[in-house]
Amino acid sequence: MVNCLNPQYMISTYTVIKQEMPDPANIDIGVSMEGELLFFVNGKKIVERNAEPEMTLLTYLRTKLGLTGTKLGCAEGGCGACTVMISRFNPHLNRILHHAVNACLAPVCSLHHSAVTTVEGIGSVATQVHPVQERIAKVHGSQCGFCTPGIVMSMYALLRNRPQPSKLDIEEAFQGNLCRCTGYRPILEGYKTFAIDGGCCGRKGKENDCCMNREAKDGGSVSQLYDPSEFKPLDPTQEVIFPPELSRLAKQENKKLQFKGERVVWIQPSCLTELLDLKAKYPEAKLVVGNTEVGIEMKFKNMLYPVILAPAVIPELTVVQHTRNGILFGAACTLTQLEEVLRSSVDDLLPYQTEVLHAILEQLRWFAGRQIRNVAAIGGNIMTASPISDLSPVFMAAGCKLTVVSKGGKRVLQMDDQFFPRYRKTALKPEEILLSIEIPYTRKGQYFSAFKQSLRREDDIAIVTCGMNVIFEEETNTVRHLQLSYGGMAPTTILAKETCKMLIGRKWNENLLEEACSLLSKEMTLDPSAPGGSVTYRRTLTISLFFKFFLTVQRKLAGDLKGQGIILEDVRPDYVSATELFHKEFPSCSQVYQAVPPGQNEEDVVGRPIMHLSALKQATGEAVYCDDIPHYKNELFLALVTSTTAHGQILSIDSEEAMSSPGVVTFLTAKDIPGSNLTGHAVYDETVLADGMVTCVGHIVGAIVADTQAHAQRAAKSVKIFYKELKPIVTIQEAIECKSFYQPVRSIKKGNLKEGFKEADLILEGEIHIGGQEHFYLEANCSLALPRGEDGEMELFVSTQSATKTQQLVAKVLGVPANRIVCRVKRMGGSFGGKESRSTLLSTVVALAAHKLKTPVRCMLDRDEDMLITGGRHPFLGRYKVGFMKTGKVIALEVTYYCNAGNSTDLSLSILERALFHMENCYNIPHIHGTGYMCRTNLPSNTAFRGFGGPQGMMVAESWICDVAMACGLPAEEVRKLNLYEEGDLTPFNQHLEQFTISRCWEECLVLAKYHCRRTQIEQFNRQHRWKKRGISVIPTKFGISFTAIFLNQAGALVHIYTDGSVLVTHGGTEMGQGLHTKIVQVASRALGIPDSMIHITETSTNTVPNTSPTAASVSSDLNGMAIYNACQTLIQRLEPYRTKNPQGTWKDWVTAAYLDRVNLSANGFYKTPDLGYNFETNQGRPFNYFSYGVACSEVEIDCLTGDHKNLHTTIVMDVGKSLNPAIDIGQVEGAFMQGVGLFTLEELRYSPQGILLTRGPGMYKIPAFSDIPTEFKVSLLRDAPNEKAIFSSKAVGEPPLFLAASVFYAIKDAITAARAESGLNGPFRLDSPASAERIRVACEDKFIKMCPPPEAGTFRPWAVQV
Ligand SMILES: Cc1cc2nc3c(=O)[nH]c(=O)nc-3n(C[C@H](O)[C@H](O)[C@H](O)COP(=O)(O)OP(=O)(O)OC[C@H]3O[C@@H](n4cnc5c(N)ncnc54)[C@H](O)[C@@H]3O)c2cc1C
Ligand code: FES
Ligand code: FES
Repeated sequence: MVNCLNPQYMISTYTVIKQEMPDPANIDIGVSMEGELLFFVNGKKIVERNAEPEMTLLTYLRTKLGLTGTKLGCAEGGCGACTVMISRFNPHLNRILHHAVNACLAPVCSLHHSAVTTVEGIGSVATQVHPVQERIAKVHGSQCGFCTPGIVMSMYALLRNRPQPSKLDIEEAFQGNLCRCTGYRPILEGYKTFAIDGGCCGRKGKENDCCMNREAKDGGSVSQLYDPSEFKPLDPTQEVIFPPELSRLAKQENKKLQFKGERVVWIQPSCLTELLDLKAKYPEAKLVVGNTEVGIEMKFKNMLYPVILAPAVIPELTVVQHTRNGILFGAACTLTQLEEVLRSSVDDLLPYQTEVLHAILEQLRWFAGRQIRNVAAIGGNIMTASPISDLSPVFMAAGCKLTVVSKGGKRVLQMDDQFFPRYRKTALKPEEILLSIEIPYTRKGQYFSAFKQSLRREDDIAIVTCGMNVIFEEETNTVRHLQLSYGGMAPTTILAKETCKMLIGRKWNENLLEEACSLLSKEMTLDPSAPGGSVTYRRTLTISLFFKFFLTVQRKLAGDLKGQGIILEDVRPDYVSATELFHKEFPSCSQVYQAVPPGQNEEDVVGRPIMHLSALKQATGEAVYCDDIPHYKNELFLALVTSTTAHGQILSIDSEEAMSSPGVVTFLTAKDIPGSNLTGHAVYDETVLADGMVTCVGHIVGAIVADTQAHAQRAAKSVKIFYKELKPIVTIQEAIECKSFYQPVRSIKKGNLKEGFKEADLILEGEIHIGGQEHFYLEANCSLALPRGEDGEMELFVSTQSATKTQQLVAKVLGVPANRIVCRVKRMGGSFGGKESRSTLLSTVVALAAHKLKTPVRCMLDRDEDMLITGGRHPFLGRYKVGFMKTGKVIALEVTYYCNAGNSTDLSLSILERALFHMENCYNIPHIHGTGYMCRTNLPSNTAFRGFGGPQGMMVAESWICDVAMACGLPAEEVRKLNLYEEGDLTPFNQHLEQFTISRCWEECLVLAKYHCRRTQIEQFNRQHRWKKRGISVIPTKFGISFTAIFLNQAGALVHIYTDGSVLVTHGGTEMGQGLHTKIVQVASRALGIPDSMIHITETSTNTVPNTSPTAASVSSDLNGMAIYNACQTLIQRLEPYRTKNPQGTWKDWVTAAYLDRVNLSANGFYKTPDLGYNFETNQGRPFNYFSYGVACSEVEIDCLTGDHKNLHTTIVMDVGKSLNPAIDIGQVEGAFMQGVGLFTLEELRYSPQGILLTRGPGMYKIPAFSDIPTEFKVSLLRDAPNEKAIFSSKAVGEPPLFLAASVFYAIKDAITAARAESGLNGPFRLDSPASAERIRVACEDKFIKMCPPPEAGTFRPWAVQV
């Protein structure tokens, strides 16, 4: 069975699918040809004589040219980290065209005669930064910086084409870029300053009363995080010039080109005849234009195409012609070209002629990102024959004509249901190619719409996509012709033929609608086990989308016929919004924080919004990440061999084929381990390399080491492992049934539950499942190990949050003392908990390989491997019984948590404990009992993720409070407020709440959000709209700060003062984008009383500060900041005599005097959090040093027919104490919030019933994109809330705001409640997290849903299960 949802990413076997093709070495196309690839990179001419057809531009840039500014985030065109600009001279247009493209998909051979510009080519810190680089850095739009070069290049390419873009252009330019840290707001805000319609805070900067300069009325609060007057203006005349040689070459006649590689030959024929000759000779040869399909197949599906033909320069394939009936496009025209031509055509043609053209433009709006559309061809889309192609249903419903050609001649085919005979097949013969497509104009009385429904609006593949075409008898509403074409409903794009046939001759009215829906529900069926899952949703969509079409046509028809004096019934006013296309305004945002007190020394940077110290380097590509370290001469590459079964006994491993593959040096197994194979975090319950048993898909069994990464990866895929399969436990439900739990079972209890339930007026029970989450740090796990050759010494460069744990576990596997191992961490490209413990899965194996081979070994995981192997946030099931009064006051709560821990304990116990510590969120429940179970399953071990179980714990709390409100018929906010804690109250774990600021945050949030006004407007909106509903919610959060494992609450630091006065600071924390090093420098600057520019941090390393705790639990600036402060105090005391002796002297004078006096100018510092310690047995002691608080109010709008939602508004008031750096803290608030938006509304990890992860990349796993940020987004840091428990009265901020995104989830639930009320459904209902489009649609129960009843559970094997 094929996967209709996303066939391109299904990875089931490791078999190489080879075509019946000749050996490339023997291919001779019989003509003389150029074998030199000529192109320019950043103005430098490159002539490559050994171009490798399988090599991408990204690999070429990074490994051959050493240009590591361009990053690898996914290798599948889904993240934009690899964006570069490609410029070509177009002789027909006589101008240079610049395009942003994904270097990870662009074959290096496709670059002949082009100029490539990378992030290094536009500016550098050493010379001059480009305004695009400067602005993203200065507006705090770069945190970890891994996405930054790609975002810079998308913006740069836009500005090269349009120096004065509109805001819409800017939003659109970023459709293909992802950022996991910033929450996007600062990036959009900063780049809006280039927009012609930027408005305030656009290009005006300090002039004209820019909003960024406004002081809040109460004084002391400011909303300016940067100073736009510092921005360098954009000067398009200063850009790198296009190499004149390329303009000259472009005017010359095309020449045939050929490049032979190890396995593949690449041929670029010069004309159509040559192409057809070649296709006749090699009928199985692949035509490659954008490589956005073939590239994915070769990389992820292990396909091998020995002959590739590149037709992009052949004029007949790139032609655009306006014909009598429509517009003809050569098959190699890119989607960007298609878009541009259609845009200008709709302006020139009569409106009735452009129905299809508009529909295509609408599909293109949601088709991939700009980088993909810039290279992907129309022909490539059609010929891929994907069942979820966005264009095929439109072309089919419109009846487009396709011209195909071979050496034998031409033929014209109608694009109909015969065109795709079966999955991924077209009606073309092997020797034929697609030459062109003619898109017809529409005529009077003809109406056309296209719809695409996906998980995420931007850059996502379709769940269901369709084209709908109706032609009426002249001046009537009688259907003459109807064509409904759907993608996502079968292995090919299909026509709803039966439905259409039955409706011919019918009037376009309610009766037709009813019958059409009923017919569609019968014709558009799906097997309950259909690949892609979401069976009920997909079936419902076929009807819901037709309903939208019906209304759209009814409106247009009524309008058109009215002009001719024929009156038809128009659409009901409350139905009109169902016909509106998805549209979202450019976000408007504000951030407010407390200014530093008047009189604070200018040089004292504490409390000021200074820029992330690495931001400029990140924006220019100069910041070095683990895989950017230059390659060592004798370095080897490692690829992991992992289990393909979730539970099994290894019978044998056959590595013969792998070992004979080119470049392979060794295959490592458990037998190669000199030390201990046991590893793990809390307990050693894992193996470095599987020994006999595998307990999850992705379990590491061995590793191949080879001379190149490509060789290692290819060979790793050919290792065959034979298993005796055992029954896996995959879901929480299965674990509960089998009582498969890790010990201990945790419990917290306060009050008397029995009494509580007795006292309560009402009792209700409920459940909520909260899905897991992939970290999706943009930089995948990476390790480089260098054996030092003496005494078992080894140096490791690792992208990890836990340098010490890496050191310990590497020492353990190698059987050497820890003092031989040095682990160094410069920075990470994001981590979010994902590199706290799971990074050692890779680093231990890489160290083992380096140890065995006595040579440097490196491995950076590919995105799919990283997602498969390293686990993520724990899925949770919460079951509750809640007793409450009719007023909404909750009296008693019994709650049980089950988390899916996976195949090892890892950090699950601490995560479960944190869920329990947060089970009541901010509500005072007199009688409460929470119990938690860790489910032992055959999934990759789940692990730390920002919030560490806290969000799941609180999410369950918000579910029961929501149920209570519904049961009482009260607004949820009233019930929440009624139950809120007050100052001094006791938590269930008997900790007093001191300096409790929730009520202040609550009140301030309601005012800032204009909550009451919004609520009234929402009620009015909901009365006026049947198929769109709005909802609102206010959610508080309280997050306990400290590691709950007490011993981790310690930190060390080392500070050196050099004789020139400069200071080098080292501490135990790692920099992953959260701005820790920046804050530490701010602390050291104040402590030493010197400017921050004199202080430097190079890296984190186990040989400078030992025994460090992981950088986690939001406490790193608290702990390391205090350790640094203590070290600085020691130094200040040592310098004091010299300062006293020479009060007029400078810092340098005192340092020099001290040095000459033989004073130690190096000091270490240490800090441990006082008064911590909690005992679960006695329910006594303090688990937390203090709490961080916040409140968010969000408003959303849902489309009841599709399940789409728009985040209209969010206001957050967050208590971060006295902020050390408001720019960084607001960045953390916004970034965490958006990650929470992903968790609660978007991100879905799909597992098969056999425990295979199906979502292994950005293609199928959707994190929030630029357009997901609230249209109105306000963040305010609570004023006058100093926290005496942490450094300079600050508070932890990394994790606490994440849960505030639950306000979006509960706003959605509020909107669904309004939709359900239309169907007469009231009272509590279950909504699991995430509130995906599918869940929203299905929860809005209506007549269409009833037409597609779900298959009966237990009667089929689903494609994916809820784990
Ligand atoms: C990140 C990403 C997002 C995407 N999003 C979408 C999306 O939203 N909607 C969607 O529909 N698709 C999407 N796709 C799929 C893909 O981009 C499109 O199908 C694209 O149009 C393919 O064009 P190409 O030029 O890159 O094809 P290539 O990879 O170059 O070729 C694809 C296939 O077409 C054949 N071919 C190409 N031209 C001809 C010709 N003239 N004659 C005969 N055969 C030919 C090739 O041999 C090959 O088999 C996405 C892909 C990626 C990587
Ligand atoms: S690495 Fe190229 S798009 Fe992700
Ligand atoms: S800053 Fe964008 S991914 Fe980290």
